[in-house]
Amino acid sequence: MIRNSIGRSSGVSLMGEYASLVGEAVLRQRTRQAEHTARIEAELANRVKSEFIANMSHELRTPLNTIIGFSKIVSEHDKRPVPSAEIVEYAKLIHDAAGHLLNVINDILDISKIQSGHYTLNAHETNIEEVLQATYAANLAAAREAGVSLDIEIKDHLPTVRGDAAKLQQAIGNVVSNAIKFTLQEGSVKIGAIRLQDGGIGIVVSDTGIGMSPDEIELATALFGQVDGGRSRWREGTGLGLPIARSLIELHGGQFKITSEKGKGTEVAIQLPSASTFNIQEARDALLGSGGLV
Ligand SMILES: Nc1ncnc2c1ncn2[C@@H]1O[C@H](COP(=O)(O)OP(=O)(O)O)[C@@H](O)[C@H]1O
Ligand SMILES: [Mg+2]
Repeated sequence: MIRNSIGRSSGVSLMGEYASLVGEAVLRQRTRQAEHTARIEAELANRVKSEFIANMSHELRTPLNTIIGFSKIVSEHDKRPVPSAEIVEYAKLIHDAAGHLLNVINDILDISKIQSGHYTLNAHETNIEEVLQATYAANLAAAREAGVSLDIEIKDHLPTVRGDAAKLQQAIGNVVSNAIKFTLQEGSVKIGAIRLQDGGIGIVVSDTGIGMSPDEIELATALFGQVDGGRSRWREGTGLGLPIARSLIELHGGQFKITSEKGKGTEVAIQLPSASTFNIQEARDALLGSGGLV
């Protein structure tokens, strides 16, 4: 009896010790994992940050150099005459560079307003068909230049949405311009829209482009993230297009989802609630609260 009870009690204490050893080992392992994840996240954040600074100075400097260089040639026209056809060409280059610069600056201002939670939508009852047609028209020239076909298919008569037409066009435009930018010659981009059963609107922008792996999708939707963000990147951009597009759609009470397969293409699905079901204040409070999105 005595031996039994001693055996039991030492067995119990051994079990206790063993349990605490296992517990400590699990804790150590978790701490190591957490440190590893934190280190990887910090490295990724650092990489994205330095790539962003490098890309951003490139994105700002290139158009500025164009503006400075060509305006100098034009301003010295009386000393060194330039044929009038060339002057017109230079004026166009200056105009395009200035427009590009304005877009980059607007994107930076937009994302900082969105992040600080001070973004205001100029919301009205909006005809989404007009927004989609305008987005299509605005991207036709870029598609032609890239040798990519661009089509639009609006299946049903779409209900109006309560929203900011300019911001919706900016969001959908960012997605369409990406689709064109990341699709090789002879590929195709389609903008499709249907009326959803719950009265909302579904928009899908699909392309037959280079596609992304699940990790790359995550990187692409992160602020300033670009899949090929290093110096070898083969397309221009600041990495702000997708985060702005997603935030703008979410501010409209909508949803934004990317599905993609490397080498096959990408589909961006956007869902917008119809004007009758949308509550802008509710969406804003849910998304931003008193702080910001991030
Ligand atoms: N349709 C697409 N197909 C393949 N990659 C895409 C597509 N759209 C976005 N991406 C990837 O996501 C990144 C981020 O996109 P975005 O935020 O618009 O920034 P940017 O266009 O300035 O690079 C792009 O650099 C690209 O790597
Ligand atoms: Mg983009």
